[in-house]
Amino acid sequence: MKKNVNITSKRELTPGEVAKRSGVAVSALHFYEEKGLISSTRNDGNQRRYHRDVLRRVAVIKVAQRIGIPLSTIRESLMQISTGQRMSAKEWRQLTTQWRAELDRRIGTLIRLRDELDGCIGCGCLSMAQCPLRNPNDRLSAEGTGAVLLMGADD
Ligand code: FES
Repeated sequence: MKKNVNITSKRELTPGEVAKRSGVAVSALHFYEEKGLISSTRNDGNQRRYHRDVLRRVAVIKVAQRIGIPLSTIRESLMQISTGQRMSAKEWRQLTTQWRAELDRRIGTLIRLRDELDGCIGCGCLSMAQCPLRNPNDRLSAEGTGAVLLMGADD
């Protein structure tokens, strides 16, 4: 008679094992899976099983989230990484190089916003014609010259 033994393959982990080893809640694993960041298979009992490389992926997700990388960007990054094997140093370098560029872009945006806010301190006009925060990138000038404000723009 064949015994019904519930043994997880050495290459596979249960959600509880992944949660314990990665420090994230099982619900977070489900969320990551729903967002396409990680994937699992199902065993004969229809229970989730994760390949061991999911630990590395979850670590990458946590690091990326910590530095503010959007989930959509993380998903794109992880799609470049081969599944079922350890992430190579070259793959890690590619990811972090992309994230650094993303951070540089966002830092540039924040610096520009801070500088524009400097000009608004003590002003309060919130003018479409004058205020760079109210009219970012001088949207009105792109709409034409002259009495643009009188032709429908709210001020
Ligand atoms: S509030 Fe006056 S320039 Fe922004």
